[in-house]
Amino acid sequence: MTTTRTFTGATAPGPYTTPPTAADPYTYQVGFGNRFASEALPGALPVGCNTPQRCAYDLVSEQLNGAAFVSPRASQLNSWLYRIQPSLAHAPPRPLLPAAADIEAVFTSANPAAVATPQDYGWDKFPLPSASEGHVDFVAGLKTVAGHGDATLGRGLALHVYAANASMGPRRAFCNNDGDMLLLPQEGRLDVQTEFGRLMARPGELVVVQAGIRFSVRLPDGVGRGYAWEVFGGHFELPELGPVGANGMAQARDFETPVAGFDVDLASGWTVVVKLAGRLIEYEQPHTPFDVVAWHGNYAPYKYALERFVSSATSDRDQSDPSICCVVTARCGDGVVADLLVFTPKTLATRDTFRPPYFHRNMATELMGMVYGVWHGSGTRLEPGGLTYEPSYMPHGESHQRWIDATTADLGPERIFEDTIAFMIHVSAHVSLTKYALERSGCLQPVQDDVWRDVEPAFVRHLGALGGEPAAEP
Ligand SMILES: [Fe+2]
Repeated sequence: MTTTRTFTGATAPGPYTTPPTAADPYTYQVGFGNRFASEALPGALPVGCNTPQRCAYDLVSEQLNGAAFVSPRASQLNSWLYRIQPSLAHAPPRPLLPAAADIEAVFTSANPAAVATPQDYGWDKFPLPSASEGHVDFVAGLKTVAGHGDATLGRGLALHVYAANASMGPRRAFCNNDGDMLLLPQEGRLDVQTEFGRLMARPGELVVVQAGIRFSVRLPDGVGRGYAWEVFGGHFELPELGPVGANGMAQARDFETPVAGFDVDLASGWTVVVKLAGRLIEYEQPHTPFDVVAWHGNYAPYKYALERFVSSATSDRDQSDPSICCVVTARCGDGVVADLLVFTPKTLATRDTFRPPYFHRNMATELMGMVYGVWHGSGTRLEPGGLTYEPSYMPHGESHQRWIDATTADLGPERIFEDTIAFMIHVSAHVSLTKYALERSGCLQPVQDDVWRDVEPAFVRHLGALGGEPAAEP
């Protein structure tokens, strides 16, 4: 009897793409910051050049870039698109629409609608549109909560919430010229059609659509609520890993970028809504903006499942700073850095350690939201779809009771954040709140009283030993 010990092997039939799932019918290319390449028709991508005299299928070549031409190679961001019609084929923008009442793009003292405050605040779940509001799509449902800097200067950021009950369209697209947008759906999936292809994001995933890219948002579950974080002038990057090494935290291969997909629609009137300096401006075009047959480059939308974040935390004693939970970071000009931190299930194993978040005052402002699960912090009240705000340099931490519990607990292995995804946008600067957030949201929580009021410090019990008047045990 003989045994076969040779095999001719196998070759990949093509580039790897992710398979569809029950929640997401689309496929994706994987990686972060790659030079991707995708063509929906064979041979649509030119070879060896970007602008052939005549493109395959008589497509039009068009570049979109997100970085200055003379940027260092590592920060170059651009893509080449091969499309049926050039993007310039549109009518002049209409006169400015009335300013959207709840969208802000300037957070300096020049804007009376941006309020600087040292008071911490919390918001319950932001409300969905009421029946009397009719159809509210993603753009109409955008409300700015907080921000820093000025979109017109390309410096700073804004945090919006969105609450919608209708898909955009038909034949309606959005383009944010103010900055890159990171969307975090909390209720209902977002079906995002972009010039680069389609993405489906469920609660627990984030989607980034960079500045200048046209996209349309549909709501396959009939409802959409979530967060939209926008950065002016900068782009989202993966943080340096330092001694963590090559692996861990948000791993590059877990980011997913669409494959090329195009529609043919040369007979319909499309409206593109541009956001510029916080104003919405519309223009018409007689063809779909989603007509890109092929593209290549590294300036392209992507999504990421936050459940895939690989936590790296202290395993012996003491605490790591929360930056160990950084998914993406963005430089927003003038040295301002903003990080997206995510809190996912993990095991605490430290000994002789105060395990809740330590008492602290940071230069950073903390904006914290929640996608699903339960938050057990005693210093803030947070529910999925809600928000908390801790201003720069203002002190915060746990209640006295939680301090007692944490300082007397038997410390064994402990699993926390099960079935929970909460996040924090950590901004190394002051962040202003909007009039919408403070006056019109309908979900602002009453200001919390001093959670340590009337507490006698345990230290006084030691005064006798120090030669003072001892206090009785409580
Ligand atoms: Fe904090």
